[in-house]
Amino acid sequence: MPKHANILLCLEINIKSMKAIEYKNYGTPEVFELCQVPTPVPNKNEVLVKIQASTVTAADIMMREGKPKIGRLYLGIWKPKRRILGFEFAGEVVELGENVRKFKRGDRVFGGTTGLGCYAEFTCISETDVITTLPENLSYEEAAPVSGSAITVANFLIGLGKIKKGQKILIIGASGGLGTYAIQLAKHLGAHVTGVCSSTNINMVKALGADEVIDYTNTDFTKNGEFYDLIFDTVNKSNFSTCKKSLKKGGIYLPTVISFKILLQLLFSSIFGTKKIKTSSTGLLSVKKRLAYFEEIKLLLKAGEIKTVVDKIYPLNELSSAHTYVEEGHKKGNVVINVAHLVG
Ligand SMILES: NC(=O)c1ccc[n+]([C@@H]2O[C@H](COP(=O)([O-])OP(=O)(O)OC[C@H]3O[C@@H](n4cnc5c(N)ncnc54)[C@H](OP(=O)(O)O)[C@@H]3O)[C@@H](O)[C@H]2O)c1
Repeated sequence: MPKHANILLCLEINIKSMKAIEYKNYGTPEVFELCQVPTPVPNKNEVLVKIQASTVTAADIMMREGKPKIGRLYLGIWKPKRRILGFEFAGEVVELGENVRKFKRGDRVFGGTTGLGCYAEFTCISETDVITTLPENLSYEEAAPVSGSAITVANFLIGLGKIKKGQKILIIGASGGLGTYAIQLAKHLGAHVTGVCSSTNINMVKALGADEVIDYTNTDFTKNGEFYDLIFDTVNKSNFSTCKKSLKKGGIYLPTVISFKILLQLLFSSIFGTKKIKTSSTGLLSVKKRLAYFEEIKLLLKAGEIKTVVDKIYPLNELSSAHTYVEEGHKKGNVVINVAHLVG
């Protein structure tokens, strides 16, 4: 349907409309279009959130491309079933379904929804989904990346790695979306943290609390003679076979991207290995589990124990540029979309 027809439809049946970025086909960042679409209406268990900020993560890039193709079983085989991407949000509750008890109009909230739809002015989310009130000390931009990246870090370090005080942990990709939260959480939990990043990011990684930093552009950590309890590869630039040599007996290797090879190694190491490989897809955890991690992280953010690193903020109508930037693979921390602000 052409854009103006969408607007006319909204006017004709007298419903509210909102701005959103849609994609009708998988592809490059240029597939995005600014559209006027009907504002969603909350069902009895949902809240309507006026979105102030969303994010662009590696997961959004994969969903835009429709890769890996197995993901299309969920997204749509030939073209996307849900035309509005974006799963992380921070904003304000503006309407309530009749059964909603947890929130009230005007609450500042943040969270993440597997239903997508956050590259828009409004979204609906069940009050029992991954959504909570926003601490006063957090801006919408600092809050938006938490439900994806920070929860994933908690899932890997606390859930899979069972990180303990005094352990030695190596974080590969220390300057990225996951890595910046991982350094802070690992330090908070009392670990001795070594971050792996490039020379341009050394100061930032040290400022986040890393005890040691390895510049991957001139040093190979697998040859430095050090041994770690946990190796968390947030950016999938290493492999288990090489990292095993740098793990202590009983040590764990945590990659964030799941492949067939990794699943085989996981199975083999769980039966025979003294050094294990563990991984997980945070999005597949139960809502209860994700919400528990979310509330745990919220307390740390409120106490100032961890902070969100925001690299760049793009207005909603420059979503294509934000996707192009994230795709280049050099972001520092997180890339945020300011939904309330349209430029041009
Ligand atoms: N399993 C799950 O549930 C789950 C959940 C969320 C995300 N993920 C996955 O996690 C991955 C990482 O996401 P992210 O948002 O943290 O990545 P990101 O922020 O896009 O990563 C970019 C950062 O990685 C650094 N980097 C690039 N090559 C490196 C290397 N060889 N060694 C160390 N650092 C390097 C870059 O620094 P320079 O510019 O200095 O190179 C940059 O700061 C994605 O593949 C995503 O799919 C998985």
